[in-house]
Amino acid sequence: MPKLTIAIDGPAGSGKSSVSRRVAALLRYLYLDSGAMYRALALKALRREVALENEPRLEALARETHIELKPPTPEQEVAGAKNCVFLDGVDVTQEIRTAEVAQAASRLATIAKVREVLVAEQQRAGAGGGVVMEGRDIGTVVFPKSELKIFLDASPEVRAERRWKEHQEKGEKLTLAEVFDEVIERDKRDRDRKVSPLVCAADAVLVDNTAMGIEETARLIVLLAHEREKELAGAAGGKP
Ligand code: CDP
Ligand code: CDP
Repeated sequence: MPKLTIAIDGPAGSGKSSVSRRVAALLRYLYLDSGAMYRALALKALRREVALENEPRLEALARETHIELKPPTPEQEVAGAKNCVFLDGVDVTQEIRTAEVAQAASRLATIAKVREVLVAEQQRAGAGGGVVMEGRDIGTVVFPKSELKIFLDASPEVRAERRWKEHQEKGEKLTLAEVFDEVIERDKRDRDRKVSPLVCAADAVLVDNTAMGIEETARLIVLLAHEREKELAGAAGGKP
């Protein structure tokens, strides 16, 4: 069977990371979280106190930064570890998951030159297929020819509640209303920006998982992937 490139885009808290990770595990594909790259760069900008309006400085920062997404070792996976994110060789997996970093990421993600650098990295990382990449512009810009595009959505209330629960589990004292506002503000910025806004690609399958669990959603996407594999194998002259 041919190996697909699967693009999963959608707003904050729609389940992209959890669902994509599971889809990749079921298909034995590589999982890549493009948002983690924007977050890692944002963390560096915040630490260096680079103003988020300073476009030339942020572009230079993007060019001189090395961000690596590493799957956990089998032992780390058994212990519940997800993907690991390294910023200039240092593990920042936990540090990038704050609301402050999320906001900063969505601000620097509006800068075309910053996106150019990260998109090129993402294209390199996903070249060769057999990959599930998630983000905001994967099906529209990073891999516009991907064989399967999913636009994952859920109601804003459910998305905010999911994110709020994660903050609660980490002992962060944000209220549900604060998390709701953060998610809505970031979605608006992501949807309204001029470069690579968050939109559902014309050829994407819209999956609303407001009332669906991670496993159910992942299995639906795997079914769609198998359909595409068969279609492609058939088109290439193989047995359908
Ligand atoms: O990556 P994205 O922001 O789109 O969402 P996520 O980080 O995968 O999911 C946010 C939270 O919602 C996680 O804690 C997931 O476990 C949870 N979730 C859920 O409860 N049901 C789903 N169908 C999808 C995600
Ligand atoms: O997990 P969540 O959906 O909350 O966010 P994320 O996927 O980690 O992305 C953080 C921010 O990076 C988003 O709000 C976007 O502004 C930006 N991003 C982007 O512009 N393009 C991508 N392909 C991925 C993320």
